[in-house]
Amino acid sequence: MKPRIDMLTRENIVEFFGSIFDRRGAEEYLGEPVTIGEHMLQGATLAERDGLSEEIIVSALLHDIGHFTSEFGSFTMQDTEDRFHEEAGAEVLEPFFPKIVTDCCRYHVAAKRYLCATRPEYFSRLSEASVHSLTLQGGQMSAEEVAEFEKNPNLEAIVTVRYLDESGKRAGMETPDFWHFAPIVQRLVDRHCGSGAP
Ligand SMILES: [Fe+2]
Repeated sequence: MKPRIDMLTRENIVEFFGSIFDRRGAEEYLGEPVTIGEHMLQGATLAERDGLSEEIIVSALLHDIGHFTSEFGSFTMQDTEDRFHEEAGAEVLEPFFPKIVTDCCRYHVAAKRYLCATRPEYFSRLSEASVHSLTLQGGQMSAEEVAEFEKNPNLEAIVTVRYLDESGKRAGMETPDFWHFAPIVQRLVDRHCGSGAP
């Protein structure tokens, strides 16, 4: 199944994400010792193990879904550029998930720049590839950018997901597959879209 982005519905979105994990999860995550699918599954597994909320589990599970922009039919070739994968992912999530989830996706790159500016110990957690991309992403935030970023009411969740992002890069870690998390994802979609909505 490869629907256009505007053909995604609350009935097919979870299956669509699952098919991306099944078909493309094994793709390389540039410079990391895990595949992109393993990376997202590790974050979600760690969140679940720590008893974090369903919103955080799903955010960790889907935060990098924008790396697969070629799956989203109405996007142009330029959108496949990795630079804006966080925005591309958030746009796909937006109609189906609460703002806390889309914010965790949309700002996960900004969160890295934020944490580098505000938590000295955070930088040491970054993988080599993540340090490299930090430069391309604009380096650490300025004081003004930090102040602006802190206005987001979902700041705490965004930061939590960013830490899970760093943690989910372990070679050989065992995780369940996407379908283990599918009922949680569907639950959030149904709650957001309303049980009576078509
Ligand atoms: Fe990530």
